[in-house]
Amino acid sequence: MCGIVGYIGKQQAAPLLIDGLRKLEYRGYDSAGVAILHDGLLQTRKRIGRIAHLAQLVHEQAAPGTLGISHTRWATHGGVTNENAHPHLDESGHLAVVHNGVIENYSSLRTQLQQQGHHFDSQTDTEVLAHLIGKAFDESKGEPTKELLMEAIRTALKQVVGTYGIAVIHTSLPNLLIGARRGSPLVLGVGKGENFLASDVSAIVNHTREVVYLKDFDIACLSPEGFEVSTVPGGESGYEIREVEFDSKAVEKGDYPHFMLKEIFEQPETIRDALRGRLSTEEATAKLGGLNMTNAELRNIERVVLTGCGTASHAAMVGEYLIEQLALLPTEVEFASEFRYRNLPLPKDALVFAISQSGETADTLAALRESQRKGHKTLGICNNVASTIARESDGGVYMHAGPEIGVAATKSFTSQCTVLTLIALLLGRIRHLSTTDGLRILEELQAIPDKVRKILSLDAQIQAIAKKYAHAQSMMFLGRQFNYPVALEGALKMKEISYIHASGHPSAELKHGIIALITPEVPSVFIAPEDTVFEKNISNIEEVKARMGPVIGIGTEGSHRLEELCDDSILIPHCPDFLSPLLTTIPLQLLAYHTAVALGCDVDKPRNLAKSVTVE
Ligand code: M6R
Repeated sequence: MCGIVGYIGKQQAAPLLIDGLRKLEYRGYDSAGVAILHDGLLQTRKRIGRIAHLAQLVHEQAAPGTLGISHTRWATHGGVTNENAHPHLDESGHLAVVHNGVIENYSSLRTQLQQQGHHFDSQTDTEVLAHLIGKAFDESKGEPTKELLMEAIRTALKQVVGTYGIAVIHTSLPNLLIGARRGSPLVLGVGKGENFLASDVSAIVNHTREVVYLKDFDIACLSPEGFEVSTVPGGESGYEIREVEFDSKAVEKGDYPHFMLKEIFEQPETIRDALRGRLSTEEATAKLGGLNMTNAELRNIERVVLTGCGTASHAAMVGEYLIEQLALLPTEVEFASEFRYRNLPLPKDALVFAISQSGETADTLAALRESQRKGHKTLGICNNVASTIARESDGGVYMHAGPEIGVAATKSFTSQCTVLTLIALLLGRIRHLSTTDGLRILEELQAIPDKVRKILSLDAQIQAIAKKYAHAQSMMFLGRQFNYPVALEGALKMKEISYIHASGHPSAELKHGIIALITPEVPSVFIAPEDTVFEKNISNIEEVKARMGPVIGIGTEGSHRLEELCDDSILIPHCPDFLSPLLTTIPLQLLAYHTAVALGCDVDKPRNLAKSVTVE
């Protein structure tokens, strides 16, 4: 969603800020802006549309200066206009603020400020925050100092209800950049003679790999020479300088035309990374120390709840099948957005997993907090190790997939499924699963990365199929058991990047209504590997063919029946049914990718979407 980059140092701020904003483009935005301080004046430049438009404006109307803040906005309060783009100024015009998050009580605060004579140029909640800080600062007695500005920020933040990650500068304090957070990520980049603020480490990793992940209620003061982090009373004090795990190459496309394709092709390695160091052949199980639970505690679990949003919820559904099949443990999946408002009756010994690539999704975080409030043990399955969900869970398992920049989640899905397989194996082995079964699962898991590589070699074939069906108005994705969530995921990928209407269903549901949609113009993608439900899927394919519906089959190598029956087929290596999502998902990702490219869609920046949904 929105992104923040701030700089203070000796270099010209504008190019650094624009470069940082480009790195945040993947998060989704509709306008962008910068404010740079020079010779006691704030120069603000804002533009709706792409960063390139803002870069052009900054270039045409030079904005020199070595202190600045910048922002990419994803509209929530107020339409997509230049006026609503950040930064926003206070009443005096001397203070500039960029803000991620939502100020829920902005409307009443705005009315109060208007009654006191304040004028607003935008419809945003952020401008209210700028005015509140500016008012508190202007009312403070004495010469302007860092302490007074910090105090003004604290005073203003005490009045707001909601979430924020902010960066603030003031004309009277040209050696000061202030950041504060509550519920919206903010990271401080530690440089030499310069320092950075960003909402996402990828914006600054090519300048520094030493960072401080700010915690809720932290306020950070940055100067070119150093920084201080303090917290409000009640906040957790102290900070830690950490080294970013990945380098700037990880957030670049390299030779790939799109991040999404790069990330699809990374999956043999990312699946291996999710397994690394976690397989114990000696005990025929998975070793997951991060769960922070003993085997005895895990054995007492009566029910598992898996929650997440979007792709993570599809991985959760795969997890439900896995845990039930391998551990015989009752498991249920709830959309995080529903979980937070439902009053789900759960036994005391329920274990709740919050699944989230970013670890910042607002609904998933709220679901985690809600289950903690009810006294349940909550664990996170996250990719972003510094995320709020990772920090607030009682334990968890990291995905280790590296940064995922493509808005369409790809490698994070297979990493989530891999981690969930390990969890299911562990829960199974302390219940009924034999050593022999455990060893067989370990062996099959280790063979997955090479099988994924083999599927990736079918890229050209999948591209040709994608081109053939790219002009369809609507598509169906169908699968059974472990491949029902894969059908949902395949449909989501197709929708979000190619804008073709697509829906996923259990194959057997066809006859209960969906078959009414089948025509020669509506292709169906059947995920039908040779497993226990293969014959059932074949019958469903026959039903579609009988109604002249074109069928693309995802099946197992050597599956002649599938090949003969389907108009097009993609055959992939064999694996046990419970691992099949790790393989069957790959052709669907490539199918969606090549369809979107054939249609000329902006694959990495699909319309209206944000990578990390940090508002409800
Ligand atoms: O960061 P998270 O895993 O919590 O994100 C959840 C969803 O927003 C995300 O999976 C979304 O559905 C993707 N665009 C799917 O490709």
